[in-house]
Amino acid sequence: MTAKASAGGTFTMAEDLTVARMGYGAMQLAGPGVFGPPRHRDEALAVLREAARLGINHIDTADFYGPHVTNQLIRDALRPYPDDLRIVTKVGAVRDASGGWLPEASPRQLREQVHDNLRNLGLDVLDVVNLRVPDGRAEPGSIAAPFTALAQLRQEGLIRHLGLSAVSAGQVAEAQSIAPVVCVQNYYNIASRADDDLIDSLAAQDIAYVPYFPLGGAFSLRSGVLRRIAAGLGSTPASVALAWLLQRSPNILLIPGTSAASHLRENVAAAALTIPEDKLTQLNGIGGGERR
Ligand SMILES: NC(=O)c1ccc[n+]([C@@H]2O[C@H](COP(=O)([O-])OP(=O)(O)OC[C@H]3O[C@@H](n4cnc5c(N)ncnc54)[C@H](OP(=O)(O)O)[C@@H]3O)[C@@H](O)[C@H]2O)c1
Repeated sequence: MTAKASAGGTFTMAEDLTVARMGYGAMQLAGPGVFGPPRHRDEALAVLREAARLGINHIDTADFYGPHVTNQLIRDALRPYPDDLRIVTKVGAVRDASGGWLPEASPRQLREQVHDNLRNLGLDVLDVVNLRVPDGRAEPGSIAAPFTALAQLRQEGLIRHLGLSAVSAGQVAEAQSIAPVVCVQNYYNIASRADDDLIDSLAAQDIAYVPYFPLGGAFSLRSGVLRRIAAGLGSTPASVALAWLLQRSPNILLIPGTSAASHLRENVAAAALTIPEDKLTQLNGIGGGERR
């Protein structure tokens, strides 16, 4: 029997924002380089419908995927949207004509990006908007101006909740002094553990931590330990890497990306997988010199 997303439990980010911890990231549905349409539109639509069928009710997207492509696929595959579906999008960047990623976060540009998301998703209000900060962790400057602009759009009723992406702990604290933050989306996986302390501090505040590249993304996870443990559990490296994240902290929500329905089912199977304590200890070592 195919596992359902609900097997991994739920997390409540706000009163109207409870999702299965096993979600889906839509970035892989756009064309090569996250630019242009998918090679096979029908397959992309089928992946989204399969995600809904498997009980996924948290989809991560951005209007700069394509651009516009993943949002329009989500709209075309899933409207009318199920009542419990929560779509989380990101602003703070646009694409140029050749697919380059350009940071754009003036108040006017953020307003335009919010309207682009509303139009392409076919929504009147966005559930969650993350401010994506270019190089926020490497160069942790102030994000007060763009986050204040998003807080204003929230006040106007265009956005229900705000989050952050690619940020430092200091930037999270700065944003929280402006408006509530319900989630933080940063680079983290079993092999890349720089955010261990941030995850713990967000967990203490009941704020969701949503790792991007949970499967290593462009730098796919390669570990003999992971492969061996997966084989011993009768599972796969991808499922074990995701199950490890679910067991790492209760505030971690997963948005693995895939363009293949078979990979989607394999990833959702992680929601039903419990890694025994001794194997967890071995897996914790994959992060090398980092904290755990
Ligand atoms: N905030 C940010 O700056 C930011 C940056 C990057 C991503 N994101 C978000 O995070 C989500 C996840 O990141 P991601 O999709 O880039 O990386 P990911 O989830 O770590 O990995 C996706 C890659 O793994 C492959 N894959 C997926 N499931 C697999 C499986 N079961 N077995 C083998 N390979 C598998 C996919 O290829 P196939 O298509 O062939 O399955 C794809 O190449 C994105 O979809 C996006 O929504 C956010």
